[in-house]
Amino acid sequence: MARILDLPKVELHLHFEGAAPPAFIRGLAQEKKTDLSKIFRADGSYAYRDFVHFLSVYEAATSVLKGPEDFARLCTALMEESAKDGVVYSETFVSPDFCGGGDVGAWKEYLHAIREAAEAGEKTYGVTLRGIVTCIRHFGPDKAKAAARCAAETAGDWITGFGMGGDENMGEQGDFAYSFDMAAEAGLRLTTHAGEWRGPREVENAVTDLRGMERIGHGVRAIEDPRLCDILAEREITLEVCPGSNVFLGVYPSLDKHPIQQLRARGVKVTVSTDDPPFFHTTLRKEYERLAKTFRWGADIFQDLNRTALDAAFCDAATKEAIK
Ligand code: ADE
Ligand code: ZN
Repeated sequence: MARILDLPKVELHLHFEGAAPPAFIRGLAQEKKTDLSKIFRADGSYAYRDFVHFLSVYEAATSVLKGPEDFARLCTALMEESAKDGVVYSETFVSPDFCGGGDVGAWKEYLHAIREAAEAGEKTYGVTLRGIVTCIRHFGPDKAKAAARCAAETAGDWITGFGMGGDENMGEQGDFAYSFDMAAEAGLRLTTHAGEWRGPREVENAVTDLRGMERIGHGVRAIEDPRLCDILAEREITLEVCPGSNVFLGVYPSLDKHPIQQLRARGVKVTVSTDDPPFFHTTLRKEYERLAKTFRWGADIFQDLNRTALDAAFCDAATKEAIK
């Protein structure tokens, strides 16, 4: 087991604000004299009832991240946590909605601070971090366009992709095609959350209605349609699977009922990530430990998952080569 847990890890699906430890958010709330007591349990962890409530607690926690400096501090905290798990490369979803409200000028200031912290963090912690600009589905297509504009204006070697998170039950993937097209035209690679809550049709819509889609956040409910699994396998669409998140939020009742093993067996490209680790009481090490125990996976499978993740990473070839 030690060999598995100590492997150098590649993580593709980590929400920047969702990685904020509760103590970090509580500290900021105190500094800013904001009462956030409703979002914490007595033991200090985040308190929410279900997915929709999780999204609102997430947004409340994020409300105390007030300026570029707070995001820079969070970046350092996130990288310190990732390093403890043996993560060597990570892609994180950052939302202009929380960083200047979609204004390009403000976004550039936030991004500058985050990027400086990421570069310092790389030296201190040995983790290479890249950003995926992320729109939020339940904020609607107009806000998504503003996010895509921010993404397009800062596309480059640190911002490598454009994605969408948020409430999958709101609207349709195709409503966001304009934004995804704008990001793709700026050279960004694409991922979207799909098939976490809605069924396989949602995953199919993501790969048919959004041109150039390369990865799917979660995507696990694709398993309900064998033909769709074949399409994903053929087109080499990579799933960013977050098993602990799915179990904690109740998508599946327990890890042994999670389809990650079946998806792999069907030839779908599968990777493992944490999503929002402190919200789901997880870390990438814990994910590996639970998967190894539940499915009796050996180090070879985890090595394969990491190879798949590095192949599907949105960074350039030189960065991949450097972390191999
Ligand atoms: N934002 C943060 N975590 C998310 C999740 N699991 N699904 C959709 N949007 C999210
Ligand atoms: Zn997610």
